[in-house]
Amino acid sequence: MAKVRKAVFPAAGLGTRFLPATKAQPKEMLPLVDKPLIQYGVEEAMQSGVRNILIVTGRGKTAIEDHFDVSFELEHLLETRHKKDLLATVRAVSDMIDVSYVRQKEALGLGHAVLRARELVGDEPFAVILSDDVIDAEVPCLRQLLDVYEFYNASVVALMEVPNESISAYGVVDAEPVAHNGGRDRLYRIRNMVEKPKASEAPSNLAIIGRYVLTPEIFSSLEAIEPGSGGEIQLTDGLKHVLRSRPIYGYKFEGKRYDAGDKLGFLKATVEFALKRYDLGQEFREYLKTLSI
Ligand code: UTP
Repeated sequence: MAKVRKAVFPAAGLGTRFLPATKAQPKEMLPLVDKPLIQYGVEEAMQSGVRNILIVTGRGKTAIEDHFDVSFELEHLLETRHKKDLLATVRAVSDMIDVSYVRQKEALGLGHAVLRARELVGDEPFAVILSDDVIDAEVPCLRQLLDVYEFYNASVVALMEVPNESISAYGVVDAEPVAHNGGRDRLYRIRNMVEKPKASEAPSNLAIIGRYVLTPEIFSSLEAIEPGSGGEIQLTDGLKHVLRSRPIYGYKFEGKRYDAGDKLGFLKATVEFALKRYDLGQEFREYLKTLSI
């Protein structure tokens, strides 16, 4: 079985839910406490053993490229000011990854963005991480999916139970539980999936969240399909096409997911991540207690 070495980060969406902050910069650069969202995703990939990072960029691509690049002026300045800790933090980012970029000129959908990475990925399995889905987990979410991939040698998507009133914002699966690791409560074999169904038509309460391990057949499927929901080439539709000939699994991951591409989700993530920080948490907690809410 081929090892997953590459992770694709689609970062070319318009981020309309976060305007005006996303007018001139991608939402993937919004900072959660002090790190841009995309860095959390990249760290998750590294901690999962995937070191080759492919970022699909759109507008504002320079901010992302600069972030992962060496900044000689900044490093020099920090060196002369003897700011060792900050220097180490800044260097850790540029030392972290082997990164390539590909451009999606028009935001024609998540499936289209993934297809743009075809040449760089080649004929091998790969991961997809949507960095606006921030997942706080003991075992990184991508690692959880890779463990399933390595067992079944098939594509795996991350699943989460979502309340009925918000299900129509997601790709939703029709799936049957599969016994795995001595339990039947996390792994599913997917029968069908539908992008953004009406609540009354959703096949289940299991939504697809932004982590995928995909086999390379997805590329020809994405080429074969027509635009779907919202007039975009949807990754969910591509996966549905793959399902005709190959199994796809879904894994209800362990961990807490924040929709950081949405203002309220972003605020929740900011508060919870700040409270967990050793250098900020205590003072921030004290401050929150003083608010009359
Ligand atoms: P979203 O569904 O969150 O869309 O994309 P969006 O356009 O970024 O944001 P809103 O809904 O308008 O606020 C999910 C992921 O897919 C990427 C986004 O960057 C995000 O990581 N994406 C989406 C692309 O790279 N290209 C696209 O054409 C669409």
